[in-house]
Amino acid sequence: MLKFLILWDIFGRNWRRLVKKFLPELKKQYSPDFMIANSENMTSGRGAVVKHILEMKELWFDCLTWWNHSFANLNDNETYINSSDSIQIRPANYFDHPEYPVPGKWYKIIEKNWKKILVINLLGNSFMGWHIYNPFMKVDEILAETWNNFDSIIVDFHRETTAESYALSEYLSGKVTLVYGTHTHVQTNDEHILSSWTAMITDIGMVGSLHSSLGQKFESRIPNFATWINIFSAKNEVDMWPGLVNGIYVEIEDRKCIKIEKVRLIEKV
Ligand SMILES: [Fe+2]
Repeated sequence: MLKFLILWDIFGRNWRRLVKKFLPELKKQYSPDFMIANSENMTSGRGAVVKHILEMKELWFDCLTWWNHSFANLNDNETYINSSDSIQIRPANYFDHPEYPVPGKWYKIIEKNWKKILVINLLGNSFMGWHIYNPFMKVDEILAETWNNFDSIIVDFHRETTAESYALSEYLSGKVTLVYGTHTHVQTNDEHILSSWTAMITDIGMVGSLHSSLGQKFESRIPNFATWINIFSAKNEVDMWPGLVNGIYVEIEDRKCIKIEKVRLIEKV
């Protein structure tokens, strides 16, 4: 049996405090074989610098996924994210023009305990406001070449709408082991195993501040929503209590997901 612990949207400097505080307890409870997280907001709410990626590696994370701020720190991390031992991946469905290759690796193969796991990061199309390659077509192209080579395929679907999450999960049912949604920072209460043994959850949620807007202070967010003028830049995120750790725990046996369970821990103040 393969046991996965997946934590999401590790936000700003709070992640260091929360992940380090709660990880020993989570490891003791779940004894995960594989750990995955997202780092799109890890360094001051924008992407991740190499120093922080390596801190996650030291904590035994096998793979980090991205999106919105994937390339916010290219000056710092371009060499690392292009290297074969990078644990940081970026979404697979950017337009990858042969003359203008997008930096970073679009997949991670984790080999451990004689098992081989493929992690794919995809972007949704609905209301994301970016021109991207179709995620349904992209994942089909990937799976046409790879499925038989892996003990498990995990898809992180970074999207805005619940409908697109359900549509992709059903589309991939029986083709991958797990489809989990990310991006809204709010954990959904719909984790389940589809009829074909593929598990899904619409959104895992975030590791950040419980009482916040996307992990940011309200004085950064309320003016933007109140005026719809984007001139009120986000205040530097500082430690905000109480902390929230969202994620999922998943068990996989013979390529079938047999258990998916939400993780939701709120710090006691
Ligand atoms: Fe996002």
